[in-house]
Amino acid sequence: MNTMSGQPWSVETMAVVAGRPPHEAGAPVSPAIELTSTYRSWEPFGGTDAGVYTRMNNANWRDLEAAVGALEGGTALCFASGMGAGAALFDLVPAGGRVVMADSCYGSMLSLAGQLSTAGRFSLTLVDISDTDAVVAELPGADWLIMESPTNPLLQVADLPALCEAARAAGAKVAVDNTFATPLLQNPLALGASVVMHSGTKYLAGHSDVVLGVLVAADEALLQQLRSYRGLHGAILGPMEAWLALRGLRTLAVRVERQQATAGVLAKRLHEHPAISLVRYPGLASDPGHERARAQMRGFGAMLSIELAGGVHAADELVQGVRLWVPATSLGGVESLIERRRRIPGEPETVPKNLVRLSVGLESVDDLWADLEQALDGLGQ
Ligand SMILES: Cc1ncc(COP(=O)(O)O)c(C=O)c1O
Repeated sequence: MNTMSGQPWSVETMAVVAGRPPHEAGAPVSPAIELTSTYRSWEPFGGTDAGVYTRMNNANWRDLEAAVGALEGGTALCFASGMGAGAALFDLVPAGGRVVMADSCYGSMLSLAGQLSTAGRFSLTLVDISDTDAVVAELPGADWLIMESPTNPLLQVADLPALCEAARAAGAKVAVDNTFATPLLQNPLALGASVVMHSGTKYLAGHSDVVLGVLVAADEALLQQLRSYRGLHGAILGPMEAWLALRGLRTLAVRVERQQATAGVLAKRLHEHPAISLVRYPGLASDPGHERARAQMRGFGAMLSIELAGGVHAADELVQGVRLWVPATSLGGVESLIERRRRIPGEPETVPKNLVRLSVGLESVDDLWADLEQALDGLGQ
């Protein structure tokens, strides 16, 4: 439960009510898009104050941040992209520090961490995040543990409470990319993390029409450092994008509930199809992450990955053979997307070459299945 005005409200309700204009006569129900680069001001300013200069703060950020912060149980800061948020996150690592990171994190996060470590900014240890003992063994001397759960695109589930606890005992802070789970299904701050990251491009905005990132934290010192980074590096989110993201966020609960219900049905059907050698979806009882996901999530999400028995060729043929599923990268929108991940240069080698990632949208489950089935049945013909 989150609270606003002393009311105990659920995540579903907060997605609708948080970040609205004030509850007073004449106030608009939906916020305006405030297109201004600067504001009238004459007081000395501290750089983060409202209404001074749009690079430092603006009304549309405040609305969006109020809503995402309420959903994740902390204070949110928006960035120009998920990777913009990721770059700010790495900036929190002390110079010469040590980062322990999941080897199955999103590929560009791994590439950036690799570049920073090669440049001598910090040392980097990559771990299999599903192997709790192996991760815990690497924590002594670490400054940060950076992970995703479920991971993109392997759908591995980390034991978040155990890892946060072990990191705290070792004096390390924890960041969790919650893009796949969304705040509807999982709240890493409540499980012990210091920072939550989102590619807001995905489920938060939800309509494949805007790119943004968000970091959420409760610790004021971390937030100050992140605000300073954002203001000084200057690659900020535009007010229009913030407005679009908040508009999309209003329907987060209904979208994710429907998408994950469809994903659950598709996962079972795919699991039984002879052309598929493996379905990776934490909602399947046979999935290695199933019990952990049940314990720490409020659902299993709407992302799934499949491996084709016919290898890379079959995977490419499947993506070319569908008509309703959209062959495109990204995820979390209303339309279902499909892609073979290793076609992307720099995708980690931990990702099998025959893996196809599916982002389940809002189309009818029967239409989505019929399309997949005809493409799978036609493989090799
Ligand atoms: C889990 C995850 N984190 C971060 C990112 C980066 O986000 P963006 O593309 O908004 O920069 C992505 C993008 O696909 C992602 O899937």
